Amino acid sequence: MDRILVNGNGPLKGVTHASGAKNAALPILAASLLADGEHTFRNVPELVDVRTMLRLLAQMGCEAERLEGKKKHVCQVKVGGALTPEAPYELVKTMRASVLVLGPLVARYGRARVSLPGGCAIGARPIDQHLKGLKALGAEIELAEGYVEARAKQLKGAVVAFDLVTVTGTENLMMAAALAKGRTVLENAAREPEVEELAKVLNKMGARITGAGSSEITIEGVPGLHPVDHAIIPDRIETGTLLVAAAITGGEVLVQNAVPEHLEALLLKLRETGCRIEARDGGLWVKGPAKLSPVNIKTLEHPGFPTDMQAQLMALMTVAEGTSIISEHIFENRFMHVAELRRMGADISVEGPTAVVKGVKGLSGAPVMATDLRASASLIVAGLRAEGRTEVSRVYHLDRGYERLEKKLRALGADIRRVKG
Ligand code: EPU
Repeated sequence: MDRILVNGNGPLKGVTHASGAKNAALPILAASLLADGEHTFRNVPELVDVRTMLRLLAQMGCEAERLEGKKKHVCQVKVGGALTPEAPYELVKTMRASVLVLGPLVARYGRARVSLPGGCAIGARPIDQHLKGLKALGAEIELAEGYVEARAKQLKGAVVAFDLVTVTGTENLMMAAALAKGRTVLENAAREPEVEELAKVLNKMGARITGAGSSEITIEGVPGLHPVDHAIIPDRIETGTLLVAAAITGGEVLVQNAVPEHLEALLLKLRETGCRIEARDGGLWVKGPAKLSPVNIKTLEHPGFPTDMQAQLMALMTVAEGTSIISEHIFENRFMHVAELRRMGADISVEGPTAVVKGVKGLSGAPVMATDLRASASLIVAGLRAEGRTEVSRVYHLDRGYERLEKKLRALGADIRRVKG
């Protein structure tokens, strides 16, 4: 298993760029199931999760591949002919987002058999809202042998009021409703930029969706969709991680093709810590302060502070001058990085959903273990500031969602490398 070795060596400097967004690419790839023909997706990040989604599509009977060489960020998905509408446990257990094929399959093929995802490191993460929504659209749902079986001859538009805000739940329902008969209204919908992006792609395919990006989305069902050619938006969480990496080292970095409007809550907090941030040259420029001020954050649904940046911001606050309060309101168990950051000398105590981070003078390098995707990023961020060597193991978590993060950081001057095996 690969490990990442980081030696804290001072300020990062230079220009980097944001890759395509993982959490936009996954639902968009799943959406290709809604139309026969050849779909082309551009700016698709090279990630393990994307590979898993391509494997899932291929296993169902589509031709799904990433091109090579200079075109390695292009994926093509050919849909048509016989298809097995099933997402097996072996794939779903490695990637929960596999559940995104449920909506398209039942809408287009009249049935779907998708393994129920189990709990994961950051929380229980049930899919009851996805199922409630599909039932409202007329699907019959059965749970058997660890699988969800959904059937419907023709889905019918309905009002779906989510009991809580769910990103992939909103996406699943939007995809299902695109081919339903009549109008669907999704109330209490997720407002994440990735939801808006999926709606844009579906509309390009011929769907009639309005309101995406707000909490009420209206979908007028259409009888059929056509294939699409689309370039994926930049990854706001990768961008945020790079900004925090620059900030913790007191560095100065430009992240090209970042979208400031997708990151407002984070930028606000980074400015409070003392960072200077400007929209420049089609990207975001950050300069970290000599002394970081503490900030309090509460993770919330978009446009609130993203849970996917909580671990990285906590790493930053471990070396702020004062105490920060960080509350996690989206997932019940997303503090697994705390124990690892403590091993590096951080002073953090946790009570329920709240972490109290008392800034320390310095961190020291240590062997640490990544427990999930964003936790691994936070440990690398901390390692950039720590005295001595930090060795992050289980970096397969990192590879699920960051495109060669260590290469990007090394190009900015970090002393970081991957050790194979
Ligand atoms: N929830 C339910 N029932 C449901 C659906 C969700 O109780 O039917 C709960 C979850 O357990 C959680 C909360 O609602 O406590 C929010 O979950 P949500 O469904 O919004 O999360 P998700 O769609 O499974 C996506 C991202 C996550 C990101 C969350 C929150 C994708 C593929 N994944 O997950 O990304 O943390 O939204 O913003 O879009 C990551 O990239 O590291 C990652 C975990």
